[in-house]
Amino acid sequence: MNILGIETSCDETAAAVVENGRKIKSTVVASQWSVHRSFRGVVPELASRSHVERINDILDEALRKANKPIHAVAVTTGPGLVGALLVGVVTARAWGLAKKIPVIGINHLEGHLFAGLVEHRRLKPPFLGLIASGGHTELLIFRGYGKYERIGATRDDAAGEAFDKVANRLQLPFPGGPSIDRLAQKGNPQAISFPRSWIPGTHDFSFSGIKTAVSNFIASPTSKLSKNRPVSIADICASFQEAMVDVLTQKTIRAAKAYGLRSIVVGGGVAANRALRLAFEKAALQEKFRIFLPDRSFCTDNAVMIASAGYYKWKTHAHHSKNKIEVNPTLHVQNW
Ligand code: KG4
Ligand code: ZN
Repeated sequence: MNILGIETSCDETAAAVVENGRKIKSTVVASQWSVHRSFRGVVPELASRSHVERINDILDEALRKANKPIHAVAVTTGPGLVGALLVGVVTARAWGLAKKIPVIGINHLEGHLFAGLVEHRRLKPPFLGLIASGGHTELLIFRGYGKYERIGATRDDAAGEAFDKVANRLQLPFPGGPSIDRLAQKGNPQAISFPRSWIPGTHDFSFSGIKTAVSNFIASPTSKLSKNRPVSIADICASFQEAMVDVLTQKTIRAAKAYGLRSIVVGGGVAANRALRLAFEKAALQEKFRIFLPDRSFCTDNAVMIASAGYYKWKTHAHHSKNKIEVNPTLHVQNW
């Protein structure tokens, strides 16, 4: 069964064709970075307009490259920017209607976990999923297709949001996560000890404190981010990243132990972070966990993960008919 996936929840216009949930026949992602760069963040109205301008070409390209008959369309219905989501959902509904094929609504966050499933054939539920993106940071147990239990989430900023805001404060180019990742490679992660928020007794996260700590450090006279810098911007990036990586890996491993889960899947844009990937791989070796990281290109938003989730949702016969697919910008991960 070939599913056409469509993803437009934020600032990537993406389409893909995936066969039986795991064989990628085509994938096309058009990033809007150049549209938003000068604003140092995503401007919702510009995002919607850019999706409208590009969606047809992106779909054509994905379909041409795959050159396969399409049996269903899977589309992100939320969470995300309402206008941006609408472009994908309306396109999917029109496609379903014209081709007389089903349209399957997919939660963007569950999609991020399927990025791990597409690539790793050995991976079978149950497993622990960490989703760390620009808008969300959540820990959930994936017990089976469509059976999720959320055990923790951020109480304030998402991990990616913290990366973006710190980068902004350092006047690094948008998007901040990849900028910090790059610069951190030249810095000393031990240069500054930024606070880690552990919130004992829960599997929740909090990243607003570290963001403020970095901001205060930059503003303080002792930071001496001037001519004869004792601490460089690269050191700040490396030290901030180290603290983020520490919290994300340690809290995830702790949660896996608490629930007796031996497999961990990490997804979402922050999973593309090189230091985070290394830390998870190291921890997995030490603690004897199996860690499944999608290829870096499938960590950030793409439509392969949506098409894959669509296939498994279809298999559980829990898909919606094309008339019921609606945009839901604040959708949480839920059972199908
Ligand atoms: O999943 P995603 O593409 O979009 C959302 O669903 O939000 O995640 C985007 C987030 C942004 O905050 C971006 O700065 C962050 O992921 N990100 C990274 C890296 N690549 C993207 N954060 C840290 N290191 C990276 N290499
Ligand atoms: Zn995402």
